[in-house]
Amino acid sequence: MVNNIIQQQIEYYRARAGEYDEWFYRQGRYNRGEELNARWFNEVDILKSALHQLGKFNNILELASGTGIWTQELLTIGDKITAIDASQEVIEINRYKLNSPKVEYRQVDLFAWEPNAEYDLVFFSFWLSHVPPESIDVFLQKVYKSVRVGGKVFIIDSRFEPTSTANNHTLKDDGNVYISRKLNDGQEYQIVKVFYQPEQLYNKLTQAGFQPDVKVTDNYFIYATGTKVV
Ligand SMILES: C[S@@+](CC[C@H](N)C(=O)[O-])C[C@H]1O[C@@H](n2cnc3c(N)ncnc32)[C@H](O)[C@@H]1O
Repeated sequence: MVNNIIQQQIEYYRARAGEYDEWFYRQGRYNRGEELNARWFNEVDILKSALHQLGKFNNILELASGTGIWTQELLTIGDKITAIDASQEVIEINRYKLNSPKVEYRQVDLFAWEPNAEYDLVFFSFWLSHVPPESIDVFLQKVYKSVRVGGKVFIIDSRFEPTSTANNHTLKDDGNVYISRKLNDGQEYQIVKVFYQPEQLYNKLTQAGFQPDVKVTDNYFIYATGTKVV
């Protein structure tokens, strides 16, 4: 069951690559009107300033880097970015948009990933919520291993807010982590989506060995910094 969902999830993002950015930029099915869109972008600005407040880094690892929405921010704070994603389709969009010799791309399934280097910052946005709950501890241990002592992890993800998703997706508050997502052409996939409460994320990061600081924006986002002190 879980392996099947992980594969469907990869296939979903491969098929969605060309329409992915509509979600973040509130276009098409994700356009929720002027007021809600403005709310979304104001909260995105809070995330961006929190990220920029971390300072500058030599080496950054971005996990599930997607089409480059956040890779482009990382480029402004890092000398070198290693960007990992399972989908060659999204990697090609990211590469085309950023066109930067500072980014090195790797096509890797994060459930098979074995960290082999340490970075000053490990970043992932809208990825933790797609990790099945039974795999999160192992995943965060790998993240811990890939951060150098004194380095940081920075995480951004979704809060439970029905207007964050497409207008033909139903977000149910029933604790079910397997949900259905549609492409613009109606094709449907099952994926994992877990909405973390701040204290849950705080506990998970502490358990992994980080010193965490977890915050939320008013509606849409949860974000966290974790420092590796030993
Ligand atoms: C919700 S998107 C987030 C993308 C990007 N971080 C952002 O904020 O726009 C999830 C990303 O995870 C990637 N992905 C899905 N399953 C994966 C896996 N098993 N290993 C690595 N990446 C995966 C998808 O290709 C997609 O780019």
